[in-house]
Parts: sequence; structure tokens; C-alpha cells
Amino acid sequence: MIIALDGPAASGKGTLGKRIAAHYGFHCLDTGLLYRAVTLALLDRGLRLHDMWAAVALARALDPNRLEDLDLRRADVGEGASVVAKIPEVRAALLEYQRAFAARSPGAVLDGRDIATVVCPTADVKIFVTATPEARAKRRFLEYQARGLEATEADVLALIKARDARDSGRANAPLRKADDAILLDTTELDIDAAFDVAVGLIKRKIGR
Ligand code: DC
Repeated sequence: MIIALDGPAASGKGTLGKRIAAHYGFHCLDTGLLYRAVTLALLDRGLRLHDMWAAVALARALDPNRLEDLDLRRADVGEGASVVAKIPEVRAALLEYQRAFAARSPGAVLDGRDIATVVCPTADVKIFVTATPEARAKRRFLEYQARGLEATEADVLALIKARDARDSGRANAPLRKADDAILLDTTELDIDAAFDVAVGLIKRKIGR
């Protein structure tokens, strides 16, 4: 059983993915962490994000069991990951692990940008989670405030829009809703409401 959640930054898909996985007793993979881990490894070594050979070597050497590093959550690592994720060879190097993870029993929830379109095109359930850029910027801004990070809401909105453009505009596995994915707009929903809607959608598909 594979549940694919795709969507732009700060749409709520990560939190949703964890809650859905806990609800069904499934494994959960935040695939953005894979791209973030490659990015952090480049940054830690003082290498450029466009250094294709280094990025590919680091992606191939990645230990996906070590994605707990809190630095992976850093804003600059997220932004950098969006750049590194444009490299087709990096995406290819991370594909096999994601597909093997998706096949885990009794089921798996994967969230990312290209799960329903590229990683698991035959997923049992495909949900495209989105919200307006303004709503997503507000969430990110509040998150940063809670962590004591300095930023204005306007800055966060500009970054969100630039990230959307980069993730949707790349040639390889761009962020887009699969034709057979269900749209879940969380603009007006808090996480509990979004979870209830998602479980309702999943129930319609898999009967539980
Ligand atoms: O979901 P996130 O913010 O952690 O992802 C960071 C970046 O990684 C995102 O801007 C694009 C890239 N990414 C991707 O290209 N494909 C995925 N399946 C997941 C993330």
C-alpha cells in the first residue's frame, strides 16, 4: 500500500504524512530530507551547490538511515536543496532507495514533489497538497518566529514564490499534480482539519 503526497513548500504535506502514517501503521519517508542531506553534505565541505560530480557522489554515498540531523531543517539547506534537486543525476541516485522504501510492508507514505509522477506512478493513493503562497508564507513565518529566527513575512513569501518557480520550472521531475491525484487545498484548514479530509479521501480509495 503506497500513499503519495506531493506539494509545494509549507503546504502541510510533511506533517500530514507523519499523521497519516501513524494512523495506518505505515512507514513514512519525507523525501525532501534526502535532497537536504546531499545539500548539507556539500555545504559542510565548502562545495558549490552546482558541483554536479560532488553532489552525485554524495547522493550515492548517502546513508538514508541518518536523516535525524537538525541542521537538515535549516532554511538555507531547504533553499539549497531546491537547487541541488535540479541535477538529474542526483535525482536518479536517490530514486532506488525511495522506491524500495515505498515497497515496505504493510505500507508507506512518501511525501515530496514527484512521488505520484515519477517515484511511484502506480501508488494506491495520490494526494496533491497545496495552499496559496500567502497562507504557506504565513505558516513558515510563524514557525520561524517560534524558533526565534529573524525574518519578515514579505521575505518568506518572496522565498516561497522563488522556490515554487524553481521546483515547478525544472526540466526533470518538476513539481506538478499528477493527472490522477486528488487535490487537497489546506489554505483554510488547520492540520487537524486537513488530516480529517485526507483520511476521508484515503478511505474512499482503500476502504479504511
Ligand atoms: O520538502 P522540502 O522543503 O524538504 O524539500 C526541499 C527541496 O528538495 C525542494 O525545494 C525540492 C527538493 N525535492 C525534490 O525535488 N523532490 C522531492 N521529492 C522532495 C524534495
